[in-house]
Amino acid sequence: MCGVVGYVGDRDCAEVLVDALSKLEYRGYDSAGIAVFENGTIKVDKCKGRLSNLVEKMAQDGKPDGHCGIGHTRWATHGEPSDINSHPHGNKRVTIVHNGIIENYKQLKDFLISEGYSFVSETDTETVAKLLDYYYNGDPFETIAKVIAEIKGSYALGIMFRDFPDRIFAVRKDSPLIVGVGEHENFLASDVPAIIHYTRDFYLLEQNEIAIVTKENVKIYDVHKNEIHKELNTADWDVDAAEKGGYEHFMLKEIHEQPTAVKTTITPRITNHMPDFSSEKITAEELKNYNNIFIVACGTAMHAGMVGKYVIEKLARKSVTVDMASEFRYRNPIINENDLMIVISQSGETADTKAAMQIAKNVGATTLAVVNVKGSSIAREADKVIYTHAGPEISVASTKAYMVQISVMYLLAFEIAYANGKITREQCEEYTRNLEEMPDIIEEAILLNEKCQFVASKLINADSLLYIGRGLDYALSMEGSLKLKEISYIHSESYAAGELKHGTISLITDEMPVIAVATQQDLVEKTISNIKEVKARGAMVILICAQEVEIEDSVADEIIRLPQAEQLLMPMVAAVPLQLVAYYTSVLKGNDVDKPRNLAKSVTVE
Ligand code: F6R
Repeated sequence: MCGVVGYVGDRDCAEVLVDALSKLEYRGYDSAGIAVFENGTIKVDKCKGRLSNLVEKMAQDGKPDGHCGIGHTRWATHGEPSDINSHPHGNKRVTIVHNGIIENYKQLKDFLISEGYSFVSETDTETVAKLLDYYYNGDPFETIAKVIAEIKGSYALGIMFRDFPDRIFAVRKDSPLIVGVGEHENFLASDVPAIIHYTRDFYLLEQNEIAIVTKENVKIYDVHKNEIHKELNTADWDVDAAEKGGYEHFMLKEIHEQPTAVKTTITPRITNHMPDFSSEKITAEELKNYNNIFIVACGTAMHAGMVGKYVIEKLARKSVTVDMASEFRYRNPIINENDLMIVISQSGETADTKAAMQIAKNVGATTLAVVNVKGSSIAREADKVIYTHAGPEISVASTKAYMVQISVMYLLAFEIAYANGKITREQCEEYTRNLEEMPDIIEEAILLNEKCQFVASKLINADSLLYIGRGLDYALSMEGSLKLKEISYIHSESYAAGELKHGTISLITDEMPVIAVATQQDLVEKTISNIKEVKARGAMVILICAQEVEIEDSVADEIIRLPQAEQLLMPMVAAVPLQLVAYYTSVLKGNDVDKPRNLAKSVTVE
């Protein structure tokens, strides 16, 4: 949440900052701003709204002319989106951009007011800027060290001191920040896509490390000013990965990237058609021996966990508890050192997921993170990590990350089931082979594009929708419903089909479309009965089902028939039309698909 960037070099700083921010808008887009050294002073330009508003404003007012500066794109936490609350904050002497939350800002603000400071914004960030000013003694490093000893909470800070116009300073705790290393130019960024155009090389800043970044140098210190010599990381992402590549939206591009993402994720974890997590140092033996398995995540990642639960329980006969991280944290969970917690996160920075993982660590349980962003906090803090290789996911609505997360869940389920003696080696090989075929089948599912567009056209006037399914199809319908509501702004709920009669069916009218997912042969008859029940009450029904299911066309108003695949793996196929229906509904409603209102990609607040 919130994107931070910085630049020092020969290029036009304002241009680089705006370009870098455009790659981070997925982190927040309530407002944007930059600060650039111009003739020895700090010039700030900022305004409410999208980055494009800032660009327009600078086109009118004149953009700052300089080579060193910082920038920010905001997802509001303290104070509404407004020009005043936009970052950067500070005064003529110290100016900062911030991602995170300062928990003790009220006390600090009271103290600073008592010292004669006045505040213009409602943000927690302004307190940090003023505190830096208060402690400033001509030595930026000492000043920063003093301030971080006093502030509580999370922060990734880009800092400029007027007296040092050739450099920017950075420090982070619990919010990500990297320092990009170029030739005669260096960068700051919350995430790799911001800098990939300019350099692939970067340092990951660890907790409370302070970086001093000039055109020729990057120096990183601990709080006692001991220099730290860090390993340089190299991003293996394609430069085009952070671009739309001819697609109208990132979401559509990312839906199309799913076959490759799955292939790249599963191939290194399969040897001779058997799951193989040896490079992650995860053995079948240990997976078998955990007492209980917990899967904890948020949103879409939690829905991937639901699929994981069904397949692990079905194949391995091991009980799995799935929790929303925000609930797990506060329900005093019964977990101990013999248990395994699998946390799933695209960003690896989600605050609730991180905190839930910490609970498991505190009791000595083993933590296994399934994470997309390399070097993210969750990946670094977990005992073991399985990286998904989806590449950067820019669209706020997650698609390819979900797909690769479930592909990993399948492989883990096969491994645990085989280790547990619940499936034979032949069966395990068979399942794994089926999984290896999925990239091609997902490709086929993407061809349902036009049909999904047509279905979307029938949904755009609905005020509310219901998604129903049973078993794995229920897990899928949860994801379908979330996808639709977050980008189309149409209210929708997912419901276990068998539960409808216990209350929810009273909502059904001819104005409430129902999307039924029925891919599981053993449950299809039951779901068809539920479809008949809602249809009899006037609902327009869209059925997503397997190719081979024998049903009369009249059962539903529209039927989306999926390409054939092993039944257990059908969620990977059915997810595609669910994503496409949500996508086209949003497009047809004229919404900003990639940046839905009120949301941000990386939820680093609780
Ligand atoms: C929905 C979506 C969110 C995320 C959730 C967790 O499309 O993307 O629900 O899945 O915020 O984020 P990560 O996976 O980064 O922990």
